[in-house]
Amino acid sequence: MKILITAGPTREYIDPVRFLSNRSSGKMGFAIAEAAVARGHEVTLISGPVLLGTPPEVTRIDVESAEEMLAAVRRELSGNDALVMCAAVSDFRPRIQACHKLKKSAMPPVIELIGNPDILQCVKPQKSGRIFVGFAAETDNIHVEAERKLHEKGLDLIVANDIKEPDAGFEADTNRVILVYPDREPEPLPLMTKFDLGGKLIEFIELKAEKSHTN
Ligand code: PMT
Repeated sequence: MKILITAGPTREYIDPVRFLSNRSSGKMGFAIAEAAVARGHEVTLISGPVLLGTPPEVTRIDVESAEEMLAAVRRELSGNDALVMCAAVSDFRPRIQACHKLKKSAMPPVIELIGNPDILQCVKPQKSGRIFVGFAAETDNIHVEAERKLHEKGLDLIVANDIKEPDAGFEADTNRVILVYPDREPEPLPLMTKFDLGGKLIEFIELKAEKSHTN
């Protein structure tokens, strides 16, 4: 299969020096890409700014902002059978992005933010027979929030991680997640490496594709 994966944070610039971002290291998305290659798939990885090397045999596209990531996902999606949105996309960006470094004295005490596009919502009309997997980074009401996002974003699976735990979510080499499906009971998974979790997600995509071919 051809699998499109997003990873890492986005950066939303205030000026050429300062930006809004988040703690995503890219480890989870890169591990999914590695697991997909190990299982024989062709992988395109759209990544925000991270410090990780490109896994062998992966085609990598680097982006910075949410709008750049949206453009890349829109462009690449038609050539892929599945999309895994693991990136931590900034929901907001500064309304004004200065072209020159703002002087400390000219820095406004309040920065006005505007909403970024939701990438999954934007590409929902292009889903057709493709398999869409999302992630939910949560601190509270994990189940409820993950189910809301699963339905709102029209996903086949959402991977809910509790980002308060030190061995899960952002930056860790391991993750502990609950897989939430539209048509069956949620499946809590034990602590595992991000690579092993990647393998499980790719296995889900393979089985889902196989089922839709036989139906
Ligand atoms: O990179 P690591 O350090 O390894 O950390 C991994 C991770 C914690 C970033 C990852 O496991 C994770 O949870 N990624 C999703 C983080 C997130 O943005 O969650 P969310 O609940 O805000 O978004 C829900 C889904 O919508 C996600 O699939 C997200 O990619 C997508 N989204 C979000 C905002 C937006 N504007 N467009 C989107 O498509």
